[in-house]
Amino acid sequence: MILVTGGAGFIGSNFVLDWLAQSDEPVVNLDALTYAGNLENLASLQGDQRHVFVQGDIGDFALVAGLLAKHRPRAIVNFAAESHVDRSIHGPEDFVQTNIVGSFRLLEATRAYWGCLDATEKAAFRFLHVSTDEVYGSLAKDDPPFSETNRYEPNSPYSASKAASDHLVRAYHHTYGLPVLTTNCSNNYGPYHFPEKLIPLVIHNALAGKPLPIYGDGQQVRDWLYVKDHCSAIRRVLAAGRPGETYNVGGWNEKPNLDVVHTLCAILDELSPRPDGKPYREQITYVTDRPGHDRRYAIDAGKIERELGWKPAETFETGIRKTVRWYLDNQAWVANVTSGAYRDWVGKQYGAQS
Ligand code: NAD
Ligand code: DAU
Repeated sequence: MILVTGGAGFIGSNFVLDWLAQSDEPVVNLDALTYAGNLENLASLQGDQRHVFVQGDIGDFALVAGLLAKHRPRAIVNFAAESHVDRSIHGPEDFVQTNIVGSFRLLEATRAYWGCLDATEKAAFRFLHVSTDEVYGSLAKDDPPFSETNRYEPNSPYSASKAASDHLVRAYHHTYGLPVLTTNCSNNYGPYHFPEKLIPLVIHNALAGKPLPIYGDGQQVRDWLYVKDHCSAIRRVLAAGRPGETYNVGGWNEKPNLDVVHTLCAILDELSPRPDGKPYREQITYVTDRPGHDRRYAIDAGKIERELGWKPAETFETGIRKTVRWYLDNQAWVANVTSGAYRDWVGKQYGAQS
């Protein structure tokens, strides 16, 4: 079996669902169920013996050590993290705690467990750390995309905390020989994406008749990847990646934010027109920019394609259409996650403009 952390979040829950759709290998899913964790994402697995959910913190050494001793996983996939850049600007503490201290304790518990495996199990074991392209910092307009050899230049408390965890993972391989793999992926989108992030926020606000907030001039560039493609890349790296290596994962889909929002508005105009017949793009509102906002991310995904034969299955056009349809078909899910604490966050971040 494998141990997945953060498997009730956006990417983690997609990963668990896809994993169990394609294999019978059981998953132990350790998730603290912060505001971003949602067991409703995994409702289709209710009663499925192959999925064991445990609520808990990756930073709880005793809990993790107990889970490893009991379930004896052959691999760990670490998704658990605080993941929202804007939240890291308002309150970096949780990011340091989970992304750095939590990852460190998880590595320590893993090292202790791995050290006691027999030689065959030891050689087969993998610790896969899911990281981000944001660790590389910001690109100028004509810079080549990030490759695995780019310098780490994180600019936000979020990316700095992820960079720190990547360094710890690297050190555990170099120093202790732990068979680690690291993936650095670009911006994901798709089902179960929490509506604090650009794409689901815009879909949600558009349908609710609210402003579509564009930070600054909206010309910041992100490289978008459909979440199921990220999950397939992780499965491929877990199966065939070389221990100690890092793999960049991306969709070759660089887009300025304003173009993404225009695309979302056009698809919504077609699939769910406004009652007054006007275009959704009329709801676009320019708001104060994110402090320290990275201008451009772009991923060179050549290494994972060359060495492991992985390529994304979706283009941005097919993936974004699927995503809008998913949100239209799952309004109850959106309504459940946008109550309570979510409203407090929106008030804090967007103030009177929300
Ligand atoms: P998310 O915020 O949607 O989910 C994070 C999950 O981790 C939640 O279920 C939460 O409850 C859980 N969690 C948080 N702190 C925990 C702790 N201390 N112990 C156990 N569980 C904890 O995040 P996501 O977008 O699904 O991202 C998953 C991972 O992928 C993160 O490591 C993130 O840095 C990385 N990543 C995300 C993207 C993206 O575009 N979303 C891109 C590249 C990499
Ligand atoms: O690049 C990978 C990263 O992508 C992941 O590591 C992070 O976990 C994930 O949150 C994401 O970070 P971003 O900051 O790029 O994603 P976000 O959806 O928050 O913002 C995307 C872009 O849209 C960014 O340039 C900021 C802008 N934006 C965002 C929001 C929420 C707006 O213009 N308005 C908004 O209201």
